Amino acid sequence: MDWSELKSVCENCTACPLCKTRTNLVFGTGNREADLMFVGEAPGEQEDKTGIPFVGAAGQLLDKYLAAVGIERDDVYIANILKCRPPYNRDPLPEEGDACIGYLREQVKLIRPKMIVCLGRISAIRLIKPDYKITREHGEIVRRGSFAMTAVYHPSALLRDASKKEDMFRDMKKIKAYLDEIKK
Ligand code: URA
Repeated sequence: MDWSELKSVCENCTACPLCKTRTNLVFGTGNREADLMFVGEAPGEQEDKTGIPFVGAAGQLLDKYLAAVGIERDDVYIANILKCRPPYNRDPLPEEGDACIGYLREQVKLIRPKMIVCLGRISAIRLIKPDYKITREHGEIVRRGSFAMTAVYHPSALLRDASKKEDMFRDMKKIKAYLDEIKK
């Protein structure tokens, strides 16, 4: 599948009921040749309105961390496990994740990033391992075939608990250093 085929398949997807309640598909955004890819959980209200991932309060905080460590948002690719918003921002249901994850895998195949960063526990559980413990394992870099993976706290968790911000800054600096190192 190429990008336009994939986008059209997603736009026409009826594999789970979220296609009926969403306003816009939130396909993903950014550099399709990125070395670095971020994967969140699911679109929220602002993302559903605009069709762009991470544009609400959590996204604005993510932008601050990217800027603070010298990563341009335009250089990375940002997507979610789910491409449609769950009503009232509830956690994605396992069957919604199952229905949608194949599209993310196609995006990864097309981008071929050098590193995938899971934003939050739900993404890490889905992409790294089912028993991922975000408080213990955030920032640990693991190799998976042709790319590396890690997870950081979800920006909305930082909005709720400012004591996590120091860890987030440290993890983001580590991610930037890893990318700089592999580009040498
Ligand atoms: N939270 C997410 O996980 N993804 C978004 O796109 C926005 C908020």
